[in-house]
Amino acid sequence: MSNNSHPQMKKNKLGKSGIQVSAMTVGCWAFGGGEYWGKQDQSDVDAVVHTALDLGANTFDTAEVYNNGESERSLGVALKGHRAGAVVISKISPSNCHDVRKHCLASLQRLGMDYLDVYMLHWPINKLAIEHFTADKTTLAAPPTIESAYAQLAALKEEGLIRAIGMSNFGRKQMAEVLATGVQVDVNELTYNIVSRAIEAEIAPYCLENQISVIGSMGLQQGVLAGKYKTPEEVRPHQAHSRHFPEFRGQGTARHGEAGAEKEIFAVVDRLREIAASLHIGVGQLAIAWILKKPFMASTLVGSRNIPTLKENIAACTVEIADDVEALIDEISQPVLDILGNNPDYYENTAKSRIF
Ligand SMILES: NC(=O)c1ccc[n+]([C@@H]2O[C@H](COP(=O)([O-])OP(=O)(O)OC[C@H]3O[C@@H](n4cnc5c(N)ncnc54)[C@H](OP(=O)(O)O)[C@@H]3O)[C@@H](O)[C@H]2O)c1
Repeated sequence: MSNNSHPQMKKNKLGKSGIQVSAMTVGCWAFGGGEYWGKQDQSDVDAVVHTALDLGANTFDTAEVYNNGESERSLGVALKGHRAGAVVISKISPSNCHDVRKHCLASLQRLGMDYLDVYMLHWPINKLAIEHFTADKTTLAAPPTIESAYAQLAALKEEGLIRAIGMSNFGRKQMAEVLATGVQVDVNELTYNIVSRAIEAEIAPYCLENQISVIGSMGLQQGVLAGKYKTPEEVRPHQAHSRHFPEFRGQGTARHGEAGAEKEIFAVVDRLREIAASLHIGVGQLAIAWILKKPFMASTLVGSRNIPTLKENIAACTVEIADDVEALIDEISQPVLDILGNNPDYYENTAKSRIF
């Protein structure tokens, strides 16, 4: 459903909630600065957030874990005086679900807000997923349960502290477990882009069947699909520690033990450059337009850290690619899908996948 005041930015319903999210959600992981993304000036965050709102991209995605809370704090500063026009998503770490209310209140305090539009569990609750967030022996020995976590989330909604409940990185079996609690869950947020298509197999169809929206993260594969790099050697270790790359590229930060598909991925980017040039758009814009053509996609998450990239990325939301262009991109990215497979966890191999 389009929003008349911003004809350039489509809005989509989020699950069964009354919330409308913009087709592009502003990814706030880099906000606040930190080791993963490097320095980030608050003045750039302010400019990005205000321009995004002006252009109709009113949805913002953060998490308590991003830069140890600094992402939430930075987004809150930028949204001061603009709260009513924004849709704010934050996430609780699975290790913190023994006391969901306490962590929600801490997020709200950092954001300087009295409610969240969407609050989601950042990862499913299983041993490997929790170990990624904490080394606390007590929590690891007696992890929270999904039933308890979602009952607490439902209570927060009842109390008016959150408007909708979500999941992030949940597989089909894990989604079924959540649905069995009877709590209304409106969204699942997972990695989705031209070279990360695992969710197409089971997760996206299951979401469509159950009126759960999908928000796709890493729309530009952390810059790779924006044509930011000419060769894999140029990619910084943090952005190269996923299964897309051979493990050594992570320089000690990767743990998947796989050979990756970097040769095939860079061949895809070369083809995308040609297609984008023929359409007179940027390569990243083509990558975004391809995502937004997928019927299960409520919103694509893209990290934009300055005004030029934000404007370029938002402009992509009005690009409508033809069916044959979409099919061609599906075809040229198939070799990458064949190598990386249907494991939606892009950081752990299939045997250790946290998503199932
Ligand atoms: N739920 C989850 O588990 C999960 C996981 C990952 C991400 N996320 C969310 O998804 C958001 C987006 O993912 P992401 O930030 O990891 O990756 P991304 O959006 O795929 O890539 C972001 C990076 O790509 C580069 N870029 C963006 N637009 C560009 C353009 N027009 N031209 C050239 N380069 C461009 C920028 O790099 P530089 O600015 O550094 O140049 C930017 O930081 C995150 O911020 C976060 O909110 C969620």
